[in-house]
Amino acid sequence: MRLRSIELALPDASGAAEFLTDIWGLAPADVRGGTHYLRGSGSFPYLVALEEAAQAFVRSTTFVCSEERLAVLAKAVVASGLAAREVSSQDPGGGHGLIVELPEGEVLRFLGGTSEVDPIEGRDLPVKLTHCVFNSVDAEATGHVVEDVLGFRISDRTKAMVFVRCNTSHHSTAFARAGFSSLNHIAFEMADIDAVMRGIGRLRDCGMAPAWGPGRHGPGDNVFAYFIAPFGAVVEFSTAVDKVADDYRVGAPEDWTWPQGRIDQWGLSEKDTAALRVAEERFRFLRDWEAAPLSAILGASA
Ligand SMILES: [Fe+2]
Repeated sequence: MRLRSIELALPDASGAAEFLTDIWGLAPADVRGGTHYLRGSGSFPYLVALEEAAQAFVRSTTFVCSEERLAVLAKAVVASGLAAREVSSQDPGGGHGLIVELPEGEVLRFLGGTSEVDPIEGRDLPVKLTHCVFNSVDAEATGHVVEDVLGFRISDRTKAMVFVRCNTSHHSTAFARAGFSSLNHIAFEMADIDAVMRGIGRLRDCGMAPAWGPGRHGPGDNVFAYFIAPFGAVVEFSTAVDKVADDYRVGAPEDWTWPQGRIDQWGLSEKDTAALRVAEERFRFLRDWEAAPLSAILGASA
């Protein structure tokens, strides 16, 4: 199971696409209808879809997996009673699978049979998404749902977050104990620390300072730099997230405490908590589809 892409709807999608290509560093992949698709240097056909819409919302977050995993997932989703339906993707890479709404409205799409593309060169291109984090009213409950239904595994719990993995990467998603439901941030994996630092410099050239970072997190041990994008979402340059084994001991909040005045390993930067909080509320979730039986996937696996 791999995190592939996030599909956003927002006003001025082309303005957002311009920022993410000209300044953030993604490459244009395609434009279909009013939707801009942007890619990284890796083999996914796109990482971010930006669809023109009157209001900002997250349409879906997409994971790709095998047909076998899809069949297991479909059975568990049906048993859970979560709203879901089958989908055939019209986005680059195609594929088919299911889309499911978690209890707090997060919409996750799981696709099998997707196609990939040749990697491209680019010194400062993000490689892929490394995680998409969501805000939750009850992060603990959502953590249990993604473990029990989706087969994800909780890697660590802190005072602020429940970190969840879907492969050996320490986390591909996380649920923040925020008191509301929304997109928290989108993290792009950079090739190395230098690429993160050059990214920070590139944004500084355009008058943008990090809202938090550079720094190195505790859980996942990854380097980070968070920015508030002009289109309103929080985006992150990240690199070197830990790989963990099946027997990774799930950390508890008391395992992840900081000395007075510290909230990351380096202690280099201030965190603009107020500005981040405003940005983290901007992209909510919207399900504009009706739930329907997962007959084709379940039939295929019978
Ligand atoms: Fe992050």
